[in-house]
Amino acid sequence: MILRSAIVVMALVISNLPAPAQFPDLMPVWRQVFARPAGRPPSPANNPSTDAKVSLGRDLFHDTRLSGDGTRSCATCHDPARSFTDGRARGAGLDGAALQRNTPALWNLAWGKSFYWDGRASSIEAQAAFPIEHPNEMAGRWPEIIGRLKADTTLDVRFHQAFTERPAIQPVTILTALADYERTLVSPVTRFDRWIAGDQAALTGAEIAGFRLFTGKAGCVGCHAGWRFTDDRFHDIGLEGDDPGRGVVPGGVAGLRAFKTPGLREIRWTAPYMHDGSKATLEAVLDHYSGGFVSRPGLSTNMVRGLTLDAEERSALLTFLAALSSEALPKPD
Ligand code: HEC
Ligand code: HEC
Repeated sequence: MILRSAIVVMALVISNLPAPAQFPDLMPVWRQVFARPAGRPPSPANNPSTDAKVSLGRDLFHDTRLSGDGTRSCATCHDPARSFTDGRARGAGLDGAALQRNTPALWNLAWGKSFYWDGRASSIEAQAAFPIEHPNEMAGRWPEIIGRLKADTTLDVRFHQAFTERPAIQPVTILTALADYERTLVSPVTRFDRWIAGDQAALTGAEIAGFRLFTGKAGCVGCHAGWRFTDDRFHDIGLEGDDPGRGVVPGGVAGLRAFKTPGLREIRWTAPYMHDGSKATLEAVLDHYSGGFVSRPGLSTNMVRGLTLDAEERSALLTFLAALSSEALPKPD
């Protein structure tokens, strides 16, 4: 509701009718829109977080025994040293060729509504089975995986302590532990958070000018809203390529090449960008939004048509985007 009214006001600001000075100060609204939630990340009722599961999940995330030939783990592609991405345009398939899409970072999943660029997985637990079983990602076979893990007596004891299910090591407990760990990956507090919470000195003048563009003229907040900077919805932003995206997923609109709005936290570390990795830098992303997108019938109405940014505005927007990332590569334990 708050967001909706903010967007309505924003639309008025963008349309530039009366002079901006006549508009009420929107900062109280933005403070609510971008406030970080307090407390621990939320967990679903069927997978309440426990230290034992998180610790198991963290180890499984790095465990190559989950892959068919024992060479790959989740961390092979979601490398913590690269903010849980792989630095490639598209993931690397076992066959040596590129996968269909870019490997996303794994920050703030606990608040996510659906997973994958096209939202085809409805829970983090369900998602984790796909890469394990996918013949070109990890090519794992469950009976083999269970056999290997059971042979590790220390691990078997830990599963028994973490789960009441018997047998303790089975696909569902493995996926549950992985998901419980993944929900602990929360992007660190940045200077932006301190600024939005009221510390006026936390951002520079240029960064604040960038925020004004982001929430005003450039219209970015129409989709990248909320403290994670995503509306959790799907939009066609006019990228080239023939990936049907959400259009072929149940619940999507057939023919609409829409993808999930990615959050913008820690993006400094996660180039290249977009579902296809087609934008090598954030400069290239700005080129896209200012005149670089394909205009077609499905293009989201939230995309600002005819956006132009002069050199100073581009630089302000880029500095602002940088302020959404940690100053040094975050290293979750
Ligand atoms: C071969 C590289 C590779 C491996 C291995 C891999 N992933 Fe991924 N992961 C990807 C790619 C590529 C996508 C995006 C695919 C898409 O959207 O269609 C993705 C997407 C995801 C997402 C969705 C994130 C979001 O924001 O929607 C999660 C969660 C995830 N992976 C977790 C895992 C886990 C857990 C494992 C290990 C069990 C794993 N991945 C193994 C490449 C990989
Ligand atoms: C109509 C909704 C919408 C608007 C408006 C919008 N974005 Fe996006 N943004 C998206 C979607 C959807 C994607 C992913 C598109 C894809 O990969 O197919 C995206 C991707 C991105 C990415 C890449 C992130 C990554 O991890 O790959 C960045 C950076 C970004 N947007 C910044 C911006 C900025 C800056 C603006 C304002 C100039 C903006 N966006 C306006 C919806 C939007």
